[in-house]
Amino acid sequence: MPFLLVSPLHQFLELFGTPQWSLIEFHQASTHFPIGLLLAAALFDFGAIVSRKKVWNDVGFWMQMLGTLALLVTLAAGYFGNPYTSNSDISQRATWHRNFAFATTAIFLALATWRVKRQGKLNRMETGLYAFVTLVAVATISVTGWIGAHIE
Ligand code: HEM
Repeated sequence: MPFLLVSPLHQFLELFGTPQWSLIEFHQASTHFPIGLLLAAALFDFGAIVSRKKVWNDVGFWMQMLGTLALLVTLAAGYFGNPYTSNSDISQRATWHRNFAFATTAIFLALATWRVKRQGKLNRMETGLYAFVTLVAVATISVTGWIGAHIE
């Protein structure tokens, strides 16, 4: 049958095959959300300290909450979807990536819990400490993402 007379769906399946999406592909796609949201949250928090405007703090807060949730989803997809389980160099790089990912998630979870519990009650000293841990978290998620992009 001439190609253009075949139904569009048939054409699609002929060209691309049946669409398949593995858990690790979902991980590779979803990872952009926590990284983007959590880095943006840190920037808004910085803006809140400089401008002293509540709206910056509120935007930072909700980005952080959404980002932390997305981080948990991404962590689970990476952990359960990881196809590299042998003893190869790729698997060892994946293990480094996994370990950094768990450290990253632990730090961001601690920050989120801290913020929810102490929202509006942080004194100068605690704000400084919170900002320092946020910088550590930003560095850790950046290293995690970099390793993730260099596994293969
Ligand atoms: C929540 C923390 C995590 C973050 C932010 C993260 C981030 C990333 C990033 C940025 C990539 C590269 C995506 C790309 O090149 O398209 C990636 C890939 C990958 N991640 Fe994660 N990841 C996390 C957790 C994990 C965990 C726990 C594992 C388990 C071992 C894992 C396994 C992988 C694998 C296997 C790849 C694909 C490597 C490849 O085939 O190129 N990730 N991750």
